[in-house]
Amino acid sequence: MKVLKKGLMYLVILFASIMVSTAVAKIQYHDFVVQATPVKRLCKTRSTITVNGQYPGPTLEVNDGDTLVISVVNRARYNVTIHWHGIRQVRTGWADGPEFITQCPIQPGGIYTYRFTIEGQEGTLWWHAHSSWLRATVYGALIIYPRQGSTYPFAEPKRETPILLGEWWNANPIDVVNEATRTGGAPNISDAYTINGQPGDLYRCSSSETIIVPIDTGETNLLRVINAALNQELFFAVASHELIVVGADASYLKPFTTSVIMLGPGQTTDVLITGDQPPGRYYMVAQPYQSAQGAPFDNTTTTAILDYISAPCPFRGTPSTPVMPTLPAFNDTATVTAFTQNLRSPDNVSVPTDIDENLFFTVGLGLFNCPPNLSSDQCQGPNGTRFASSMNNMSFVLPSTYSILQAYHQGIPGVFTTDFPAVPPVAFDYTGNVSQSLWQPVPGTKVYELEYGSNVQIVLQDTSIVSGENHPIHLHGYNFYVIAVGFGNFDPATHTKEFNLVDPPMRNTVGVPVNGWAVIRFLADNPGVWIMHCHLDVHITWGLAMAFLVKDGVGGLQSLESPPEDLPPC
Ligand code: C2O
Repeated sequence: MKVLKKGLMYLVILFASIMVSTAVAKIQYHDFVVQATPVKRLCKTRSTITVNGQYPGPTLEVNDGDTLVISVVNRARYNVTIHWHGIRQVRTGWADGPEFITQCPIQPGGIYTYRFTIEGQEGTLWWHAHSSWLRATVYGALIIYPRQGSTYPFAEPKRETPILLGEWWNANPIDVVNEATRTGGAPNISDAYTINGQPGDLYRCSSSETIIVPIDTGETNLLRVINAALNQELFFAVASHELIVVGADASYLKPFTTSVIMLGPGQTTDVLITGDQPPGRYYMVAQPYQSAQGAPFDNTTTTAILDYISAPCPFRGTPSTPVMPTLPAFNDTATVTAFTQNLRSPDNVSVPTDIDENLFFTVGLGLFNCPPNLSSDQCQGPNGTRFASSMNNMSFVLPSTYSILQAYHQGIPGVFTTDFPAVPPVAFDYTGNVSQSLWQPVPGTKVYELEYGSNVQIVLQDTSIVSGENHPIHLHGYNFYVIAVGFGNFDPATHTKEFNLVDPPMRNTVGVPVNGWAVIRFLADNPGVWIMHCHLDVHITWGLAMAFLVKDGVGGLQSLESPPEDLPPC
């Protein structure tokens, strides 16, 4: 009897606590079916890998505090994984998604359920495939609203529109990357950029499907701009309309006004736009920012149309030509620099100061000499080489038998080593005229170990090897403060004085300026294996990546959870 009473009491407590927790946070269940779908763009239909037949894929809308349970079924003929770009995945590294880093890929016919909770994040993120070049078409927005009962730090916008910038190939992107990997040369450039999956009316066969974004006179709306392009940094502007930047990478910013924004692949920027112009139609445009000199790139323009709902005839619904904005030249680095200097946290923040790990990583391209077992057909890089890429001269190679996280967790030897260098093996004039003897990186699968709770600073230094270039460097599992950026070689004696330890922006992807450097800081409080890589997929393909192994701290709350039972085998 006593036992029964006690049991009943526990049941009541359990029920009450469930009631309380569901009042503040929900669990959302989603099914993602990865499948081949015919998609018509630029006058041609091709079989395209999509999620649920949608391109772009479904938008996920959650509140901070919610839990997502997403089962991914692979009905395509390629291995696939899904990454939730920018979600911190606190203790749930198994759900992060990069193939062979935190999981083996989901094989054709396979299924894996991603489970994670949004903890203290608000704003615009996105999800994408993290396997080969599948993310060219397998991506979607992930919008995190404030917790129920809390609001934005700006007036509630009348409308909100996700603006996903993408990149389209007439050929199958997997064939494009496989061909480049075979030849060692640069992959073919894309055929179009897209806004919400549509190239827009400056491309052939696209005008009738151009995306229309509604606005009404006097209202202020939120555009959640996401650069989901595979290999291209993009400028974005709206004709005649100022943009008020209020957030980036799901962190709020001190609002500032600009006519143009620039996003590297992986980055998001939230902007407010007000209907303060004569009712009519205005182009919304994305165009490339290309910092590498002499490299071929897709120099085309994607458009959508901002359309005033109350516009009188002959504007509304007629093919009258919209107003075109003027965008910066494709190589206008000065505009990019001015824009990034404006990014500040809204308030003073506490940046980690007692640095435990002072790291210096070069990021850049390289060339492999043609190995003797390959034919000249397989060495179509510059002067009969194969293109490569590296951090600290290590060209990252993914394992193939276990993910690094599994190998670490289960103590399986031979999958990776822990000797990723804290500084480049040789110091040189990184952005000068680099001796050809330093152009050959070393392939390997190395991680850098971090103790739980360490304060980490990384100087990311571009090199001029082959060509300097702005690299959007993305770190999984963390947000970091960008405390300084600059050009030339980083010099601690002078540049340390320029560190912003007051209100630096918090991001998950930082653009390391062309022939320049960026300094980031974070507290290593999330155990797991976290890849850091250039978000230009062509550079990941060539090895521009490394991974951090963050050890468990003390006790369960500072330790990685156990792996889920349905974790796919390799
Ligand atoms: Cu948005 Cu490793 O990726």
